Amino acid sequence: MVLSAISPISGSHPPCLLGLFVLLAVATSIKIDLPSLGIATVTSIVVGLAILAYRLKRRLAAQALELHACRQRYQQIFERNPAGMCRMSLEEEILDCNDAFARILGYASRAELLSRPTHVLWDDSAGAESFLALLNKHKTVTNYERQLRRNDGTRVWVLQNATLLEASDNSPAVIEAMLIDITEHKKAQESVLQQSETNYRSLVEGSPYGIIRSTAAGKFLMVNPALVTMLGYDSQAEILALNAASELYQDPSDRLKILALFQGTRHVENIEVNWKKKDGRPILVRARGRLIRDDQGTECFESIVEDITERRMLEDNLRQAQKMEAIGQLAGGIAHDFNNLLLIILGQCHQLLAQTGPTDPGYARLQEIQAAAERAKSLTTRLLIFGRRKPLEFDVLDLNAALSELRELLQHLVGENILLVARLSPLLKQVKADRGLLEQVIINLAGNARDAMPDGGTLTIITANASTNETSAVEHPGVPCGQFVTITLCDTGIGMDSATQNRVFEPYFTTKGPGKGTGLGLAMVQSIVAQSGGHVTVASEPGHGSKFTIYLPAVQEITLPEMSAPQMPESYFGSETVLLVEDERSVRLLIREFLQSSGYVVIEAETGQQALRLAQAHQGPIHLLVTDIVMPKMSGHELARELSASRPALKVLCMSGYPGKRSQEEGASDDERRFLQKPFVMKLLLKEVRKILDSAA
Ligand SMILES: Nc1ncnc2c1ncn2[C@@H]1O[C@H](COP(=O)(O)OP(=O)(O)OP(=O)(O)O)[C@@H](O)[C@H]1O
Ligand SMILES: [Mg+2]
Repeated sequence: MVLSAISPISGSHPPCLLGLFVLLAVATSIKIDLPSLGIATVTSIVVGLAILAYRLKRRLAAQALELHACRQRYQQIFERNPAGMCRMSLEEEILDCNDAFARILGYASRAELLSRPTHVLWDDSAGAESFLALLNKHKTVTNYERQLRRNDGTRVWVLQNATLLEASDNSPAVIEAMLIDITEHKKAQESVLQQSETNYRSLVEGSPYGIIRSTAAGKFLMVNPALVTMLGYDSQAEILALNAASELYQDPSDRLKILALFQGTRHVENIEVNWKKKDGRPILVRARGRLIRDDQGTECFESIVEDITERRMLEDNLRQAQKMEAIGQLAGGIAHDFNNLLLIILGQCHQLLAQTGPTDPGYARLQEIQAAAERAKSLTTRLLIFGRRKPLEFDVLDLNAALSELRELLQHLVGENILLVARLSPLLKQVKADRGLLEQVIINLAGNARDAMPDGGTLTIITANASTNETSAVEHPGVPCGQFVTITLCDTGIGMDSATQNRVFEPYFTTKGPGKGTGLGLAMVQSIVAQSGGHVTVASEPGHGSKFTIYLPAVQEITLPEMSAPQMPESYFGSETVLLVEDERSVRLLIREFLQSSGYVVIEAETGQQALRLAQAHQGPIHLLVTDIVMPKMSGHELARELSASRPALKVLCMSGYPGKRSQEEGASDDERRFLQKPFVMKLLLKEVRKILDSAA
């Protein structure tokens, strides 16, 4: 009450007058009789009140000053703040803002913004509404990134803090906001993002591996160019339109198995699976992948795939070569003894057949023995060929002529039920090949075709010139680039499934049942063709016949066949002296018998040393040395060298059951020394003996 009494009188009144006024006012209001208090008391009260009023006035003045300074400080913080600050009503009106706010939003002064509706600043109303909703819910929003519209219509990125001040009795609800311009920061961030996206894109686009994202239903979501090339499509769009479930896997059940793996462990590592290319050709890929969720939360698969078709083929070839090497070593190891045995069996059979007549009861049995021994001989030859133990003897050949000569034999081989058609290309280039072995190749392929057409059909033999380049090398993996002559044998037989096709060249692989096929035919074919610098391919489908194509390197220079000299009737007889050296007694006796029965004088020795002694003791000429190569202590080559030193005119014929020994044997000079591969028929021996003896020294 005292204070309220003071207030109207505070101001410029002197303090004593003020004290008096106060005293009068108090006395009046509480009805005090001032004169009754006495002058001294009243005076002291008046002085006391005057002092009190004076002090009160000074404090109020100081407080007012303080308040003013404080207001000014905050005003300065508001106005000079580099961050934009503003107050907005909920009715979308800008109540106040600082210069920074106006500057950030592209206005010349804050005055231009005051009383303006806030929506002039909004970039999009949906964004603004979601911001207000957030503010209504939480009352405070911090570090909110949004775009606002500047005065000139351009966009500005701001980082905003805002508080909603609820309405109170004497003031309506307002929003206080503070924001900073982060446009530059955003641009830098976007450029970093863009750069990293460019990096990742280049990584994916340039990757040599196929990269795929697909759904569980088999829809492709993303593929990279490497996958397009790998599968032979023209564009990414073409693959994106495919369904992996039905159009990619050779066996759709493979895909289900992989899906099950993904579901189990959420990732797969190094699984190999057969896919198909656009043109239907198979491709073997190795894949690894993981199960992820995309932005919408849908499960999908991310995989990286590698085409391993060629690598697998090379691995298979290497395995095959190693297998053959092992078989070849085994065959080579036994060939020496085995061929000696066959020589004896065949030689003795020949002798016995000559001594008996077709009416003889044992004659048919002897023929059986001879046929069995011939088969055994062919078996060792096959083993030696594909074990690469038999050196090839290359001649430049006209394949058309060679096939024409074989035609009768082939027709006989396939039988009357099968029609033999030859489509031989005119102007066929020549090839360099071992004629005898090439005939074996054709006979084997024709034999297989016959077996595939038990109810008859057609076997077509086609020759052609072919040049393979990198494109065709892709179609026929394994066929090198270059000029080739091809021989194709097409049959209309039972054909093969892909599992059989993958194994046909494997030694001992046969589907023909025990006793019917050895499974060595195609292994030998492949080996002969490979040793000739060529390649053999197979194409077949069950029920639709088979096609085997042999690629042999074409010879560039054309050689004209030599004019053959008029043929004289062959004679195997002679009277020259032959030194025969062979450690295997039965073989020695057999050869001696044949040579003697053809008129030759035979000096016979079991070892090299014995032969040297006999030669030294022999006074007359020795025209020919017929010697085994592999003998204990002294080899045939060593013997020939020693003997030739004392008898320079001596001619030499070497024999061996082990073909590798022909040139590898120490001491063998690659001269004109003749060689006979055991087992041989005696007629061949006599022919060779005669040929050497008749040749010039
Ligand atoms: N023209 C063909 N048609 C169908 N299948 C074939 C044909 N050629 C080969 N095959 C298959 O390939 C397998 C292997 O053939 P390969 O010539 O190596 O041995 P084989 O014929 O079984 O035995 P062998 O050659 O000793 O008689 C055959 O058993 C057969 O299943
Ligand atoms: Mg065969």
